[in-house]
Amino acid sequence: MRMLVTGGAGFIGANFVHQTLREHPEHSVTVLDALTYAGNEASLAPVRGDIEFVHGSVADADLVDRLVARHDVVVHFAAESHNDNSLRDPSPFLQTNLIGTFTILEAVRRHGVRLHHISTDEVYGELELDDPAKFTDQTPYNPSSPYSATKAGSDLLVRAWVRSFDIHATLSNCSNNYGPYQHVEKFIPRQITNVLAGLRPKLYGAGENVRDWIHVDDHNAAVHLILEKGRAGETYLIGADGEKNNREVLALILELTGRPADAFDSVTDRAGHDLRYAIDATKLRDELGWAPRYTDFRDGLAATIDWYRENEAWWRPLKGQIEAQYAAAGQ
Ligand code: NAD
Ligand code: DAU
Repeated sequence: MRMLVTGGAGFIGANFVHQTLREHPEHSVTVLDALTYAGNEASLAPVRGDIEFVHGSVADADLVDRLVARHDVVVHFAAESHNDNSLRDPSPFLQTNLIGTFTILEAVRRHGVRLHHISTDEVYGELELDDPAKFTDQTPYNPSSPYSATKAGSDLLVRAWVRSFDIHATLSNCSNNYGPYQHVEKFIPRQITNVLAGLRPKLYGAGENVRDWIHVDDHNAAVHLILEKGRAGETYLIGADGEKNNREVLALILELTGRPADAFDSVTDRAGHDLRYAIDATKLRDELGWAPRYTDFRDGLAATIDWYRENEAWWRPLKGQIEAQYAAAGQ
């Protein structure tokens, strides 16, 4: 297949491109990426000779039309992805997540090209800490932040285009990813690089919020399975039963880096901070036969710490500006 991967210079998209070339060499890959602050061509450096790279926006209708016309499938990762940024300035989130997805939808409709839309568990809102329930594809949408509201809107656009125009699309909603090439603004890389840079890690509030962690390669393997075997129009939830609260994750980072357990700061909590996310991935497991390979979070986290240790040249240029932004917000 000729794949058009939007947002392929970001965290999950870049890992998807690496995995595709490594494990599915029958596909050709074109990346469309606007190279925002979150996009980094260095993340594609190891595969640069094996892909086509197009610098541009998913909201550029002419460019998207021309590109979609010469591909068989669009895997749509491109988004503004960080909740804290969406609280500071929501406008790019509306432009990329809503208008960008609309632009892709119109192009795949015109050219009869398949779409896989990448989304998040945050569209379902939060769960209580003691609630045995997890999210399924039947859970009502109830997003909390400007980020998750625009992702929810993008999902609903895809579903409406499936129903109204019969486009061939699948959707997936995944939980929190970790692994190499994740931007230092996000929780796990921020704390790892704080330790490596001699700064104290920063925990929002009491650190009781629970996230359902999955290794990025397990997420992307699920996306490949959906591309191969997923039913048109269906939504698949992706998660690896990795629930942990933020305090536990930080404690593990401090332990694995040989720092004292109390060597962190508690900082201003995120406004509207969702308490807990948890995915029930039964449909993905039973229908498509998916299973995660990274079942030991400690091992996956240790490998991720090693990656940041060995790739300081990748993250160091990003660090100062991000920490200055956080400091201005008391975080
Ligand atoms: P990221 O912020 O690391 O990367 C986003 C990429 O999209 C960047 O390369 C950026 O340059 C590009 N981009 C932004 N605006 C663009 C535009 N207008 N046109 C073209 N490219 C543009 O994000 P990520 O963490 O890799 O997330 C990728 C996708 O996965 C997003 O759709 C996100 O909602 C979803 N998701 C992320 C997680 C997670 O834990 N990170 C979990 C579930 C779903
Ligand atoms: O659930 C999937 C979502 O996971 C994706 O849709 C988003 O794109 C992705 O960014 C992520 O959203 P979160 O808001 O959960 O991730 P983040 O890494 O920003 O924060 C994880 C948790 O850690 C959250 O409870 C807030 C907390 N946190 C975050 C930062 C940056 C801290 O305690 N300290 C920090 O410095």
